[in-house]
Amino acid sequence: MKKETLFIAFSTQKGGMGKTTLTVLTASFLHYVRGYNVAVIDCDYPQFSIADMRERDVEQVINDSHYKKMAHIQFTQIGKDAYPVEDCSSVDAIEIAESLQNENELDFIFFDLPGTLNAAGVVKTLACMDYVFVPVSADRVVLESTLQFATTFNDNLITTGKTNIKTMSLIWNMVDGRERTELYHAYDSAIAELGLQVMQTVIPDSKRFRKEMSGERKAIFRSTLFPVDKSLLKGSNIEELVNEIIETVKR
Ligand SMILES: Nc1ncnc2c1ncn2[C@@H]1O[C@H](COP(=O)(O)OP(=O)(O)O)[C@@H](O)[C@H]1O
Ligand SMILES: [Mg+2]
Repeated sequence: MKKETLFIAFSTQKGGMGKTTLTVLTASFLHYVRGYNVAVIDCDYPQFSIADMRERDVEQVINDSHYKKMAHIQFTQIGKDAYPVEDCSSVDAIEIAESLQNENELDFIFFDLPGTLNAAGVVKTLACMDYVFVPVSADRVVLESTLQFATTFNDNLITTGKTNIKTMSLIWNMVDGRERTELYHAYDSAIAELGLQVMQTVIPDSKRFRKEMSGERKAIFRSTLFPVDKSLLKGSNIEELVNEIIETVKR
């Protein structure tokens, strides 16, 4: 029996929380390491960060013999292509996802949506997700506005059964290792009281999250063509995040 394609979004109204970064890291790990078939729909107009990243990644591979060889080895080994990255408006996102889903046997489609619910089509597209992960950092202002966004969405749309969403979970990103974990525990209980869920995996604040493939041929972290390099995986919690997502979505 053909498995249903799951629609997933890292989404929040607050900019700069790691939507794009976590989308790419998760999609690449699932597609290149875990053998799932993935597609990414980039509707964060006019940035189209992931579509642009894919263009830069492809350029880099074409122009650098080191990366070219790496790509050859990887794609021969996995026996499939890179995952598609489609850029479009939020208004057309679901239609495009459905056509992609019919052409390929996809396990997951990730959506990078605009950071505002006011843009056309965003709420409607978000409502079609199966799972939503809301990245947040432990900054008072960020937390307040994120909780506002998540509770409004949860109370008005999710718990009333008006969406496809099975769970919406917050995920701590840019966690400072020196901050006391008690602080996070206190936040977690407050969040639970609002009826929201939080992922167990926390993503550390680390410079490697800002790096892309460079001409220096350093180990790769964030790429749409390769997964996180093994040497950078430890301590990034990306594998833990992927495992928790697979567990959450039961795949
Ligand atoms: N865990 C992290 N540690 C350090 N920097 C991070 C982390 N996650 C994201 N960043 C950086 O924060 C910035 C915003 O991330 P981005 O994914 O573009 O956010 P969004 O898509 O939500 O606007 C980027 O420069 C990104 O590299
Ligand atoms: Mg972004």
